[in-house]
Amino acid sequence: MKILVINGPNLNMLGYREPEIYGGNTYKDLCKMIKKYAKERGISVSFFQSNCEGDLVTAIQKTYKKYDGIVINPGAYTHTSIALLDAVKAVSVPTVEVHISDVSSREDFRKLSYIRAACIGTISGKGFDGYNDAINLLISNRSDK
Ligand code: DQA
Repeated sequence: MKILVINGPNLNMLGYREPEIYGGNTYKDLCKMIKKYAKERGISVSFFQSNCEGDLVTAIQKTYKKYDGIVINPGAYTHTSIALLDAVKAVSVPTVEVHISDVSSREDFRKLSYIRAACIGTISGKGFDGYNDAINLLISNRSDK
């Protein structure tokens, strides 16, 4: 099973940006943690991070017939991007939306997620562990079929 982990804008600043919300560990730490977990579960993972919406769309498009699942934290594009929603719909690759913070208990503008409509699940407010939970969701979704 091949999974692409996509992170959107400002997630490369993890460990430095608002540590009281996102914690003190870096993007590199995040990738290391996910890689270790995926290995334990016998899954192959790749990573992509960009601050640019179009590059994220292209990364999603490239999963078409190449990946079995996507884990995506679209950052602020969660709340604005119909393009990311359409990209996930276009490729039909099972996708899980992840947020490190609990977006439902923050500002109102964070409560809307466009991409959610195309995702098999959302994990929010579980810190970095949410990414591993997303991998589990993709695995169990696959074995249901
Ligand atoms: C985030 C929540 C978003 O509202 C925010 O814009 C982010 C990070 C999270 O992981 O909690 O950049 O997706």
